[in-house]
Amino acid sequence: MLNYRLLGHPVNHSLSPIIHHLFASQFNLNINYVAQDVVLEALPVVLKQFRAQGGLGANITAPLKEAVYKMCDKKSIAAQRSQAVNTIYWDEDGALWGENTDGVGFLKDLKKHYKNIRDKTILMLGAGGAAAGIMPSILDENPHVIYVVNRTEQRAINLVGTINNNKLQVCSLEKLKQAPFDISFDIIINATSGSLKDELFSIPPSIIKNKFVYDLVYNLKQPTPFVQWAREEGALEAHDGLGMLIEQAAQAFYVWHQKRPDTQKVYVFFRPH
Ligand code: ATR
Repeated sequence: MLNYRLLGHPVNHSLSPIIHHLFASQFNLNINYVAQDVVLEALPVVLKQFRAQGGLGANITAPLKEAVYKMCDKKSIAAQRSQAVNTIYWDEDGALWGENTDGVGFLKDLKKHYKNIRDKTILMLGAGGAAAGIMPSILDENPHVIYVVNRTEQRAINLVGTINNNKLQVCSLEKLKQAPFDISFDIIINATSGSLKDELFSIPPSIIKNKFVYDLVYNLKQPTPFVQWAREEGALEAHDGLGMLIEQAAQAFYVWHQKRPDTQKVYVFFRPH
């Protein structure tokens, strides 16, 4: 039995165990992937115990991505660029490796809906861990500019300063709210956790009208509040993060098993229509 975990808080509603078991069944792999609720303080002990019990790897979710990054012996380039990990494993020498598959997962799913983001103007709502995780991969695609706006502006300034790329700019929320806004965005990405708490990031609807909208969070039962709002206000298209979740899981699966699962089959499993 190959043992894997999802570590974070909260994790009780996570789809990751189902996704990884569906992937494994495509290859007749016998895995055991369990979600475990872990708070930051318990993390070192939990990792040690899991390893001692024969654990092979884990996915890391909020709020532990940055903390686990600091605990890893070795880090992939993607992890180093976002200073956060969402996938770990131990190598044959026992070194703990930190990987980040969020950026790859986001781009893979985005490109199913929006082929080419080169020279596009992007608005990123949020400057937390989720925004940081996908930012380097978006920059690799050579967009025109990514404007970062955050409720707490200093956090946007910090993020832009850390990544240090001339295509990144901070935009103040006050300025954004002064409609009509003088910049036209092609793609609007919601990387805030506001949608999870049913609170909309209050931006003028004119910003998303006829534009492509992507919400990093997802909801299986109904559109996320942000997707719902964007559709009502006339967005060209609005997608939630289910596709990204499955794609980042597929990339983690590849890191652990060197096998590429069929992600479309898994998407249809959750959304048959
Ligand atoms: P994650 O890993 O999901 O990004 P995080 O690092 O805690 O989690 O970041 C949460 C993001 O959502 C931040 O950009 C946060 O804004 P602040 O930095 O001002 O806290 C944003 N966010 C959370 N709740 C929000 C709300 N109700 N309205 C607007 N932004 C919100």
